[in-house]
Amino acid sequence: MKNITLHTLAEMKSAGEKFSCLTTYDACFAQLVSKAAIEVILVGDSLGMVLQGNDSTLPVTLEEMAYHVACVKKGNQGALIMADLPFMSYATVEQAMDSSAALMQAGAQMVKLEGSAWLSDTISALSERGIPVCAHLGLTPQAVNKLGGYKVQGRGEDNASSMIEDAKKLEAAGASILLLECVPSKLAKSITESVEVPVIGIGAGADTDAQVLVLHDMLGISPGKNPRFVKNFMEGADSIQAAIENYANQVKSGEFPGPEHGFE
Ligand code: KIV
Repeated sequence: MKNITLHTLAEMKSAGEKFSCLTTYDACFAQLVSKAAIEVILVGDSLGMVLQGNDSTLPVTLEEMAYHVACVKKGNQGALIMADLPFMSYATVEQAMDSSAALMQAGAQMVKLEGSAWLSDTISALSERGIPVCAHLGLTPQAVNKLGGYKVQGRGEDNASSMIEDAKKLEAAGASILLLECVPSKLAKSITESVEVPVIGIGAGADTDAQVLVLHDMLGISPGKNPRFVKNFMEGADSIQAAIENYANQVKSGEFPGPEHGFE
């Protein structure tokens, strides 16, 4: 696979071609995932749950994120590496710049942060200094204690309108990608049509420009019950490589996600 850049993803959005993103935390999987032509690897702070066994992403540190980014970089063959800024590592603009520098120097090509329009100044500062940013909206797991659980966000007209406004503000501030987690499919479609930058969805229906899943969920090895938006791609696959390729192909063809994976 050729090296994927933000330019590649923007061109894919313009051409109406879907792309896929998958979380990855080590060199071995980075090789499998990038060989399966997944365009974006997310070194997600979900590693706090699926690798470390915590009940939230809050305990993950910047040092741990940088370690996993460096591992992923060694195995990656051309996918764009996006890394999560962990909980409270971007509470101020200065802190966001220091934390992002650590992840970019470890091998990330862009950073992701969770929040809404309050992040505009942070996103502008990072973007102006050459650090591409993905803004994660909707269900933001680092705010689970404020949200009162892992719940669908943006239901009701007022909440939906304010999420659309937030998305536009974050794009205007310089976000290069938006990520929507657990929002009604109709709202995700409106946001995707309202902004020019690519929109990645998880539990956000079939009309976003791209999809992301947590690796352990789509391989069926996460303990406990999977959320509604997860599909186990190991079912019917004879290898992990085949399961990851099926995911990439089904995102590209529009077969995944189906209506059963979305929310109203
Ligand atoms: O940390 C992560 O894996 C994520 C995805 C759920 C989008 O942010």
